[in-house]
Amino acid sequence: MSRKNLNIGLFGFGCVGYGLYEVLEKTPGLKANIRNICVKDKNKTREIGAENFTYDKNDILNDEDINVVVELIDDADAAFEIVVAALKKGKAVVSANKKMIAEHFTELLELQREYNVPLLYEAACCASMPIIRNLEEYYDNDLLESIEGIVNGSTNYILTKTFAENLSYDAALKQAQDNGYAESNPILDTGGFDAKYKLLILLAHSFGYIANPNDIYNIGIDNIGKLELKYAREKGLKIKLVAQAFKTPQGTLSAFVIPKFVGSDDRLFTVDDVFNGVLTKTSFADTHFFVGRGAGAHPTASAVLSDISALSYDYRYEYKKIYQEENLLLSNEVALKVLLRHKKEEAESLKEYFDTIEESYANHDSGYITGNISLENVKALHSGNPAERSFILLNVEKEKETLAHESLIEAN
Ligand SMILES: NC(=O)c1ccc[n+]([C@@H]2O[C@H](COP(=O)([O-])OP(=O)(O)OC[C@H]3O[C@@H](n4cnc5c(N)ncnc54)[C@H](OP(=O)(O)O)[C@@H]3O)[C@@H](O)[C@H]2O)c1
Repeated sequence: MSRKNLNIGLFGFGCVGYGLYEVLEKTPGLKANIRNICVKDKNKTREIGAENFTYDKNDILNDEDINVVVELIDDADAAFEIVVAALKKGKAVVSANKKMIAEHFTELLELQREYNVPLLYEAACCASMPIIRNLEEYYDNDLLESIEGIVNGSTNYILTKTFAENLSYDAALKQAQDNGYAESNPILDTGGFDAKYKLLILLAHSFGYIANPNDIYNIGIDNIGKLELKYAREKGLKIKLVAQAFKTPQGTLSAFVIPKFVGSDDRLFTVDDVFNGVLTKTSFADTHFFVGRGAGAHPTASAVLSDISALSYDYRYEYKKIYQEENLLLSNEVALKVLLRHKKEEAESLKEYFDTIEESYANHDSGYITGNISLENVKALHSGNPAERSFILLNVEKEKETLAHESLIEAN
């Protein structure tokens, strides 16, 4: 198969943009060259000469010789404008921007169809780990039962450092930022939003369900305290930020991002530092386990490179599962087994929210309750993200799930 020549207009020359530049330099076999680079800050010192840069996006968008736009900027709103304009001009697009893709999934799908151009975004989900193309090409919709994983490299790095090396949360976050792992706005990572955006992309490619970011509940790692860490250490567990989606016995879908205790019998136990790990469960193959670097300049650039290479032979996502129109519904009515850490004096009032209580403990100022609670009640108690409370998942009570019609959200 003969490969197309690709003339790239690159947006962004930060961690991933410069990483891509270096990776392309070392990949002479690929007929792809960067024609122009658009950045924002005119006063920044660059690794390469000023003649390579523009500050006007139209220099790329209006250049008819550029047939591929690679969007690697850290501003989701500006990225959306660039990507829309590029697709409308018939330019293929590669993006790593999960927030932009998750917030505009339907519009981006329609633009690809209307203008008959591909948009690829492997790097937006788990950086170097090729999960989207596997979901897209390998799994049949009917066979996939669940997808669960650590999809955010910086929070996994922070959790690993605070847990194993006793580093303070702030010091671990600073290290993640210094290594280029963290989003420009750290709350996107630590609040579980970045993981949610990725879960939303995974949902579309695994179950054909296009969710609105508000439909999926996310709890981050920013409130995890000493009591939960002590609990984990005493029981030989680790805490991981886990995104998960699964088909319920009633045939609906559940999806959420909540920190989880994982034991040594769980594959995710060994996924530390900046690594991501995703488990898929299918009816016949049982589980598959994907693992790879979930952030960083070269690993992320390698996924961008893979998309660029795929464009050279006209690859595009077919979105088969979306077009199968299975009309799945998302259900928030799921029973979770959690540990809730709380202020000591809140103990009695919080117990009312639980369906069953397994254990409760209190010290001089705080305490915890473990037991079964609905996701709706977790949301109610987590509202406003009060620092004195944190939720860590122990298990999902998939068998005991109930289905309430008012909690179903129509598929788009
Ligand atoms: N870092 C990772 O490990 C990683 C992993 C997976 C995905 N991603 C995604 O990759 C994208 C880039 O992340 P990054 O870490 O490379 O960010 P970064 O290091 O902060 O770099 C951002 C770049 O975007 C440029 N920029 C911002 N607004 C712009 C605009 N309106 N027009 C043109 N250029 C603009 C900046 O220009 P100046 O240089 O002039 O400031 C900078 O070069 C994000 O969507 C991120 O979520 C990152």
